[in-house]
Amino acid sequence: MAYDTPGEVDFVTGQPYQMWERARNECPVIHYERSGLDPRPSYHVTRFADAEHTLRDWETFSSSINAEVIGEYMGELILAMNGKEHRQYRNLVAKAFRASVLERWDTELVSPVVARLLDRIAPLGRADLVRDLTSKYPVQVICGVVGVPLEDHEQFHRWAEQINTGPLHPKEGHAASQAMRAYLEPIVAERRKNPTGDLISELVTAEVDGERLTDEKIYGFLRLLLPAGAETTFRVLGNCLYALLTHVDEMRRVVADRELVARVIEETLRWETSVTMVSRVAAVDTEVAGCPIAAGSPVNVVTGSANHDEQRWPDASEWRIDRPPQPHLAFGTGPHQCLGMHLARLELRVALNAVLDRLPNLRLDPDAPAPVIQGYAFRGPDALPVCFDPAPAAREPQTSGSSFA
Ligand code: HEM
Repeated sequence: MAYDTPGEVDFVTGQPYQMWERARNECPVIHYERSGLDPRPSYHVTRFADAEHTLRDWETFSSSINAEVIGEYMGELILAMNGKEHRQYRNLVAKAFRASVLERWDTELVSPVVARLLDRIAPLGRADLVRDLTSKYPVQVICGVVGVPLEDHEQFHRWAEQINTGPLHPKEGHAASQAMRAYLEPIVAERRKNPTGDLISELVTAEVDGERLTDEKIYGFLRLLLPAGAETTFRVLGNCLYALLTHVDEMRRVVADRELVARVIEETLRWETSVTMVSRVAAVDTEVAGCPIAAGSPVNVVTGSANHDEQRWPDASEWRIDRPPQPHLAFGTGPHQCLGMHLARLELRVALNAVLDRLPNLRLDPDAPAPVIQGYAFRGPDALPVCFDPAPAAREPQTSGSSFA
């Protein structure tokens, strides 16, 4: 049976859900002779139960593959660790994401960032919510979380993008990796002397069983944060807004009853997550759903497909906020389950409520092209042109005294 190979699907504009639906029904583990530049045969796991099993069985399906390409640019990477090393490292960095820290981020960082961005567009009556809001907001939040001053956000973002595209442009990738480290070194040294409670302070002071993070692990983590935390959240926020704008009756319900915002978020994460697959490599000869997989083969767990498994969600391709809640795989599962998922949910909740509060009578712009959610491995709309009732400009938000902004 022929499926589009990963090399044939357009990475940016691809619409893979139909292909995955066929695979779930006919051949749930897709076997590719090769994918892109990688000459090894690879396997794509498409059903929920198989995906869940593969992500939980870390001894058979190793994460070490995540260091193969990007590790050279990012440094030591939590995403690529396994077993005891991963557990110890994760226990240390997880302290920086505990509930009390999140509460502080909410009031001192997340809400002021979204308010500042909406202040600019609320008086206009028209906006592109991707250009003006979603593409800026999680980046600014992560920069604030790291402690990067506002005036350096764009530079920091550029380095993160160059690191991420290092495999395609190695010279720029290595230079950006070094430059980001050089930029962060004095901040790390300062926080070691005088911790302020920001993320870097948490990372340099965290201790478990007398162990502290090495410098390489600290910089590896900081280099990962923008691609892991901003690119992902910005696209899901766009997908939530797209869902509301294209389901106007539901939008009316949500405007009137904000308890429903949490359902909008979970259903959108299931229906159109931003990261549709995560990578593993078979550590031993094994099989999934009866399909033999040789040791050393890349295994892609297609979480986007698993979240559309009709055995678990009837009419899975429809966005329905009244579905009975059930765990999905948008944040993965098992030992590597997303460390930032509570922050992501917080950002989504704050932004959706703020948009509904500040942009009354929000609707798609009838004079602009209809938006589309697109992409193969990363999905989101590249524009969301909208109209709303213009509001008088709000007073400047009081962020200047914040320790984050
Ligand atoms: C809606 C937004 C997000 C989505 C869809 C998402 C998705 C994921 C997924 C699928 C994984 C598992 C990767 C694997 O198993 O190999 C993961 C891991 C991770 N995510 Fe997220 N993420 C989001 C937001 C964030 C945020 C806001 C942060 C941090 C600020 C973050 C930090 C991380 C980290 C550090 C890991 C690695 C955990 C580990 O290896 O133990 N993510 N994320």
